[in-house]
Amino acid sequence: MLKGKTAIVTGGSRGIGAAITGKLASMGANIAVIYAGNQDAAEAVCEKCVKEFGVEAKSYRCNVASFEETKAAVAAIKADFGAVHILVNNAGVTRDGLLAVMNEGAWDAVMDTNLKGAFHMIRHCTALFLRAKEGCIINISSVSGLMGNAGQCNYSASKAGLVGLTKSVAKELAPRGIRCNAIAPGFIRTDMTGAQENNPLLSMIPLGRMGEGSEVAEAAAYLATANYVTGEVLRVDGGIAM
Ligand code: NAI
Repeated sequence: MLKGKTAIVTGGSRGIGAAITGKLASMGANIAVIYAGNQDAAEAVCEKCVKEFGVEAKSYRCNVASFEETKAAVAAIKADFGAVHILVNNAGVTRDGLLAVMNEGAWDAVMDTNLKGAFHMIRHCTALFLRAKEGCIINISSVSGLMGNAGQCNYSASKAGLVGLTKSVAKELAPRGIRCNAIAPGFIRTDMTGAQENNPLLSMIPLGRMGEGSEVAEAAAYLATANYVTGEVLRVDGGIAM
């Protein structure tokens, strides 16, 4: 279904990003994984895509918070693959803490990676989408950005910012055949969430359990192929934010 397309997945070497990478590869897309530091993990994800699905896959070390590094990474991906059709802005961090004691570094680190990082990637990929006369951007937001969450003012601001970014980009680029959507996952079992068996939030999830990365990847697969859907925020959250 995505044969001949190239997808960039930021933070694609583990967790939700790795699940999305595998899913898009299973649909035939060639894969460019952007990773922050763990080269072995990124290469292992790429190797799996090549072996299991026969697609091309390469990894690129890049800090998405840097305008220059993202510019260079997108240029390298263009040189290797020729074109880019799908961008998944998945890289994200948390620096949780109460507002009253949060330092500037914790605010900036989260905004720079989660929100500005998505801007950087969209900014650099847009010329390639325009050239290809198509493009699909998927931003990984969070229910924290829709509902707010005590102890996460920086994170939820960054994720709410992604919703605004998604809708503006969707409106601005729709006339050029470029779609932009967001996914708002709820509580997904990954390294970021860690052990949560006793978290009282679990009892607030109508479907009664945490989600899996593969369930977020299903939503990404849908948005990658939903040609009449743009500016949407798709919750994958077991109902917690309804
Ligand atoms: P994770 O911590 O397992 O993966 C995040 C990935 O982003 C890692 O591979 C990390 O190396 C990469 N990354 C972080 N900073 C980066 C930077 N500056 N440059 C390049 N890569 C960078 O987290 P998880 O759980 O897989 O989260 C993926 C996305 O989903 C994040 O944006 C997160 O905010 C979002 N999300 C996760 C939820 C969850 O319950 N796990 C819920 C809602 C949203």
